[in-house]
Formats: sequence, C-alpha cells, structure tokens
Amino acid sequence: MKKVMFLTLALVSLYANEELREKALSKGLRPIPKDFSTLKSLREQAQGPTQASFEMASTPELIESRVGKNPEYIKAFRKVFGEDEITFDNITKAIAAYEKILVTRSSYDEFLEGNETTLTKEEKRGLNLFIDMGCKACHFGPAVGGQKIQKFPLRAYNSIIDLTTTFDEKTHKRHFSQMHFNTKMYHPFPFKNVGGFLGKNGTCYFRVPILRNISKTAPYFHNGSVKELREVIKMMGKYQLGIDMTKGQLDALEAFLKSLDGKLVEYNLTKK
Ligand code: HEC
Repeated sequence: MKKVMFLTLALVSLYANEELREKALSKGLRPIPKDFSTLKSLREQAQGPTQASFEMASTPELIESRVGKNPEYIKAFRKVFGEDEITFDNITKAIAAYEKILVTRSSYDEFLEGNETTLTKEEKRGLNLFIDMGCKACHFGPAVGGQKIQKFPLRAYNSIIDLTTTFDEKTHKRHFSQMHFNTKMYHPFPFKNVGGFLGKNGTCYFRVPILRNISKTAPYFHNGSVKELREVIKMMGKYQLGIDMTKGQLDALEAFLKSLDGKLVEYNLTKK
C-alpha cells in the first residue's frame, strides 16, 4: 500500500514538473544552452564595437599600440599567447574568453532541460508565481530579461485610479483589494532619484534588467537606489503589476530568483 502511495505521489510530482516546464518554455523562458556560443563567434563580435564609427571608432593598429604600452598587459599577453603577444586578433580572443565566463548556467537551466530534482518546492512555487503574476512579460528569454525597454513605475503614479490586487495561487486569479485616487497623478518618479537620470528624455523608460545572478548584483535599479532584493520584488509587484504580495509569495519569488545564481562556465582557451 505504501509503495503504491509513493509511486502515485512520484507520478503526480513528475507530472507537475513537466507541466511547469512546458508552461515556462511556452511563456518565453529559456535555458542557456550548454555550449551557448563558440569562442570564434564571440571574437568576431568583439571586433565590431571596437571599430564601429558610432561606438569606439578605433582601428586595430591603434588598439594594438595602446594595449602594447601597458606593462601589465605586455606581461599577461606574453604569459597566455607566447611571443606573438599583442595582436588585434589576440585582444579580441581575450575579450571573448572573458565574455564567455559572464554567462552562467544554474539549477534553473537544468530544470528547464528536464532534470526533475534541481529546483526545490519553494523555488518551483516562485517560478509559477513569476509566470502567473506576469513578471515574465518583461523579464524573459535565456537571460530572464535584457530584451525590452519598459516604463518604471508602470502603475500607481500614472493613473487617477490605482487598483491594488492580491494574487490567489489556487485559482491563478487576482482579487481586488484596494482602490486609491491619485491626487498627484503626474508624478513621474516617486522614488529616490539618485543621479537624476530618468531614462531617455526623462520618460522613465528603462532597460528591463537581466535577472541572472541577481542575488549577487545589488544594489538594484538603474540608479542603485535599492539594496535589498526582497524590497525590489515587492516594488515590482506593486508598481509593475499592481499586486500586494503575501510574505509566502515574496519568500517563493526570492527563492526562485536565487535559483538563477549560476556556476562559472568551464571554457577551453586554445590557440586557434
Ligand atoms: C512592465 C514590465 C515589468 C514587469 C511586469 C516586471 N518588471 Fe522587474 N523590472 C522592470 C524594469 C523596467 C526594471 C528596471 C527599473 C530601473 O532600472 O529603474 C526592473 C527591475 C527588476 C529587478 C532589479 C534588477 C536589477 O538588476 O536592478 C528585479 C529583481 C525585478 N525587476 C524582478 C521582477 C519580478 C520578480 C517581477 C514580478 C513580480 C517583475 N520584475 C515584473 C520591468 C518589469
């Protein structure tokens, strides 16, 4: 009897995992592939911005001569590349090798690829909330963000009527909880305006940030005005989605965001 129960429970949880994975993939969340990019293509990319007229507008010769004047670089290049040292080709190879370690995979990627055991129950609850509450509408793709420019804050200070809801995880629906009338309707940025930058032409549109390794990259927002991840999640709920989260929902979302913390990618820097 016990065995049957166990098997049933295991099957139910397998099914739930599969359902969650399909939901995440169908809503634009993606794992980072194991070998996400070849060193060669990153190298070719690094050759672009250094030379493009609207970016760094430089030439390979100028770059070689500047890097070649720095004693630290001379030493480091000799150590890695041997005698042919500071060439434009080797410089872009070094940049590409560095960029490659910035992309990290985590237990979340393994879960999306089909591994049942890499996310805890709490992290899976957080992933469900991330999708169902609507965070994924802005933070999506392999980097869980980085692909959109969006207004912040989106709600509350930009309309006369401000509706706040709570989110019911059983029905996946929002329930109306409060309504306020905004007297100061046009209040473009109600938070600490550190540095005075409010997006292009002061429109409060900002790049939706990448959420990979987010627990390690405080302080948050374009101006570094908030230090605690939990506070950011609460603000996102309130100002981007109009949801007042429960403590349990905040815990789950925080646990999920921490599951995006990655392991360093292993890479092989061979001479090509
Ligand atoms: C309407 C689009 C939108 C939605 C929905 C949204 N976000 Fe954001 N998020 C943004 C923007 C834009 C910023 C950057 C604001 C800034 O830089 O001032 C941001 C910033 C963040 C940050 C800080 C990142 C950093 O590096 O500074 C976190 C964490 C975050 N969002 C998590 C969430 C979570 C969790 C949810 C769901 C509860 C969510 N977001 C919903 C657009 C959105």
